[in-house]
Amino acid sequence: MSKAHLVDLSVLDAGQRFDLAQVLVAAFAADYPEAWPTVESALEELDILEHEGAAALVAFDSVGLPVGFIGALPMYDGNVWEVHPLAVRPDSQRQGVGARLMAALESRAAQSGVSTLYVASDDEAGTTSLGGVDVYPDPLAHLMALENRRGHPFTFYRKQGFVLVGVIPDANGFGKPDILMAKRVARRA
Ligand SMILES: CC(C)(COP(=O)(O)OP(=O)(O)OC[C@H]1O[C@@H](n2cnc3c(N)ncnc32)[C@H](O)[C@@H]1OP(=O)(O)O)[C@@H](O)C(=O)NCCC(=O)NCCS
Repeated sequence: MSKAHLVDLSVLDAGQRFDLAQVLVAAFAADYPEAWPTVESALEELDILEHEGAAALVAFDSVGLPVGFIGALPMYDGNVWEVHPLAVRPDSQRQGVGARLMAALESRAAQSGVSTLYVASDDEAGTTSLGGVDVYPDPLAHLMALENRRGHPFTFYRKQGFVLVGVIPDANGFGKPDILMAKRVARRA
């Protein structure tokens, strides 16, 4: 796993926050261009997470630049944390940064008595077998047969112990579903 240095979002200075906002824009540009199209929109999201989030952690690389971010929003009276968002700078992906951020978030969640981590992972660009498909009348049959066509992050979440728990058909337009996954959080010993 990556040795990236992790800190809370709240300790970043303005310059570091700007650099982190650029990471969000760059990470989502290819497959989710409408998520944070501008640095300003990403900065607003960081503000929301800092004030309303359950956790917000930043990974720094060896030269002191932000390389990744994970946030969590409380749901169901805080029993569940929604992972939102998770982003790793494109030139640093597949080096263990995302897994490290997720492990740290899970540890925070366990300390807070959270039962479940949850993530909703859109397929807007046809990167799974559900993309462009009419999943009715049996969405769960399609979900059970889910395949990765081109780097959709559900495989990353699976590797971190998440399982499929549902699908919202046509969440982002016809044939663009939201794929729902969850993981039980280990209790503190
Ligand atoms: C998804 C994302 C956060 C993963 O972070 P990362 O640092 O690249 O992931 P890691 O290097 O920690 O990968 C851990 C494992 O998942 C695998 N993995 C990571 N991303 C994957 C993907 N998109 N497709 C398939 N496998 C993937 C890795 O190969 C690795 O496998 P291994 O344990 O067998 O070696 C990152 O690619 C990203 O920011 N993507 C763009 C934004 C995004 O999609 N965010 C999630 C929205 S729900």
